[in-house]
Amino acid sequence: MCPVTKVFSFFLILLFSSRIKRRTKLFLKLEDFLWRRNDSIGLAFSELMLLKVLAATAYDDMPSHIENLKCKMCVVVGNSFAIKKTSLGSAINKYDVVIRLNNAPVPGYEEDVGNKTTMRIFYPESAISNPRLHNDEDTLMVMVPFKPHDLRWLKEMLYDEKRVQDIGFWKPPPLIWLVNRSNVRVLDPHFMHQTVKQMAQIPTQKRNQKPFQPTTGFLAVFVALNYCDVVHIAGFGYPPKSDQQQPIHYFENNTMKAMKSSPHDINHEAQALKRLEEVGALMYLHPHL
Ligand SMILES: *[C@@H]1O[C@H](CO)[C@@H](O)[C@H](O)[C@H]1NC(C)=O
Ligand SMILES: *[C@@H]1O[C@H](CO)[C@@H](O)[C@H](O)[C@H]1NC(C)=O
Ligand SMILES: *[C@@H]1O[C@H](CO)[C@@H](O)[C@H](O)[C@H]1NC(C)=O
Ligand SMILES: *[C@@H]1O[C@H](CO)[C@@H](O)[C@H](O)[C@H]1NC(C)=O
Repeated sequence: MCPVTKVFSFFLILLFSSRIKRRTKLFLKLEDFLWRRNDSIGLAFSELMLLKVLAATAYDDMPSHIENLKCKMCVVVGNSFAIKKTSLGSAINKYDVVIRLNNAPVPGYEEDVGNKTTMRIFYPESAISNPRLHNDEDTLMVMVPFKPHDLRWLKEMLYDEKRVQDIGFWKPPPLIWLVNRSNVRVLDPHFMHQTVKQMAQIPTQKRNQKPFQPTTGFLAVFVALNYCDVVHIAGFGYPPKSDQQQPIHYFENNTMKAMKSSPHDINHEAQALKRLEEVGALMYLHPHL
């Protein structure tokens, strides 16, 4: 039995006063591309590039052992320092779907973050050369296409093409990516659009804001809310402003200073997560601010 069923539209109406449909197909597929080009895929992407990328990756959505579950229990494991010393690892491993983000490492941190990874959501700058070190053999590597360069990088990796010198990345993505092609997916840009759109309805204190650019973690929560019947999260949250010494991630020593020039609005996101928690759309696995 599913403890919470299909609350999605309900809480979104509560939360954002808007009626949006839950979408459970997460990834772009070649056939979708051919049929619904005007829908969510109308991006600044070269169509040819997208076609080549989709042709090289498997067309499956989720593996059937997950897809066929009556009740999908998901956990999104964020990269926050807050997950340290929680010993949540074995609890995290019990979920049907464990979503990890970017370059978050696993070996050496299993006690707190677990060692199962169903999906890893990333973008080229946060990819690592050998994903096998930090993922399972069948982990789906889900790229978020933020910008046209992202697909070009993916195409170069999948087809082992000549690497084009890049100016469109804020950090050089890996030149070698040892991934099993059949595990690669491209996240439907619909989820990014939906996240941005819903967030625009939550007022923010900042004026003259640049367009909201979600963190990967926040985007992953929206993906999970669409796909899963139960969404729990761990490892979300940033240190308080007053604490400039505390690292922000569980795996490196960057402090809030590193966030200074980031395009993200973490206060806005924290507010949205709080509201999602209040309406019971998600639950934190550990105490938090
Ligand atoms: C897609 O968009 C184009 C340009 O906006 C329009 O001419 C065309 O009719 C649309 N096609 C479909 C299937 O909606
Ligand atoms: C996770 O760790 C357990 C216990 O060490 C091990 O049995 C299991 O195979 C590991 N799972 C993965 C996906 O690495
Ligand atoms: C690639 O992944 C698929 C699905 O997980 C698996 O069946 C296949 O054996 C893998 N291939 C290699 C070379 O690891
Ligand atoms: C972070 O700092 C600790 C203590 O100073 C050090 O042991 C560790 O190696 C550092 N980690 C990284 C990834 O730099």
